[in-house]
Amino acid sequence: MRILSGIQPSGVLHIGNYFGMMRPAIALQDEGEALYFIANYHALTSLRDPQILRQNSRRVALDFLACGLDPNKASLFLQSDVPQVTELAWILSTLTPVSRLELAHSYKDKVARGVPPSAGLFTYPVLMAADILIYDSDVVPVGKDQKQHIEITRDIATRLNDNYGPVLKLPEPRIHARTEVVPGVDGQKMSKSYGNTIDIFGQEKETRKRIMSIVTDSTPVDAPKDPENSTIVQLYGLVASPVELQEMRERFRAGGIGYGEFKKELLDKLWEFFAPMRERREQIQADARYVDEVLARGAERANNISRPVIDRVRAAVGLTGRGT
Ligand code: ADP
Ligand code: TRP
Repeated sequence: MRILSGIQPSGVLHIGNYFGMMRPAIALQDEGEALYFIANYHALTSLRDPQILRQNSRRVALDFLACGLDPNKASLFLQSDVPQVTELAWILSTLTPVSRLELAHSYKDKVARGVPPSAGLFTYPVLMAADILIYDSDVVPVGKDQKQHIEITRDIATRLNDNYGPVLKLPEPRIHARTEVVPGVDGQKMSKSYGNTIDIFGQEKETRKRIMSIVTDSTPVDAPKDPENSTIVQLYGLVASPVELQEMRERFRAGGIGYGEFKKELLDKLWEFFAPMRERREQIQADARYVDEVLARGAERANNISRPVIDRVRAAVGLTGRGT
């Protein structure tokens, strides 16, 4: 089974990225041949500072390795180190109805948030389809918000196969069930574009500040509290054991404890949860060449897989091969 996923280096990684994408992706490295890439072509749709793009790309690689990606099991590489992907994207774009892209909610959401409505942003799902199809991927682990992109990928692949014969493999999405959407400190979906994130590797002071700023209702300290819709409880559930979570829920209902107290407990658990990863990150940082070596090895592997696929597509559509 070949597993593929990508993440944009458009900012600093937060715990929504971790629970929604990174952790399930890392867990899958034991189940098959995993390929994970840093989607720097995609990031160009929203990031126009070359220095920051380079910095973020490296940092995402470092964070992924710190969080447990094992380069001996999974390949990690930059999207732009596999140029076949942009060639496939062009071929796929000729088969993609504009009307299909017009239905994509991520385009509308991003434009509404102020991302420039470039042709690249509009055809973002086509490049993503190429990312997936160029490696004959079987499974694509992503958060729920990316599900539509996988559907578009399957749709485009089907169109190509219908026209040219069975050339591309149809991938399956793998949406991580337990943590579909991680809430941010304001209770909305955690996202770097909403400024409501808790970063995986944030400084302790900053992390404390973010957690203390979690929005709560105005239930007095003594009164019973509802654990059902509490952001504190939801986040605690990600980092605490089931027993600890159950205890917090009961203490919410019992009353007598203020939200500030629960936030401190959340901070402690969260800090403890990511402690081994912080330590690993420091070790990796001590070796200046490590990240570059991992990315170079990953790119080589990814190129070896994608070259025969692009050759197959080129021949199928009539760019190569002899006519009769
Ligand atoms: P952001 O919303 O911060 O810009 P991205 O869109 O770059 O994050 O998401 C990168 C990956 O992390 C995707 O697979 C996405 O589904 C996942 N992800 C991002 N935010 C969350 C969240 N709040 N809950 C669950 N998964 C998330
Ligand atoms: N669009 C994804 C995101 O914003 C990143 C991405 C690009 C991706 N290409 C991909 C994810 C291919 C999975 C497979 O999170």
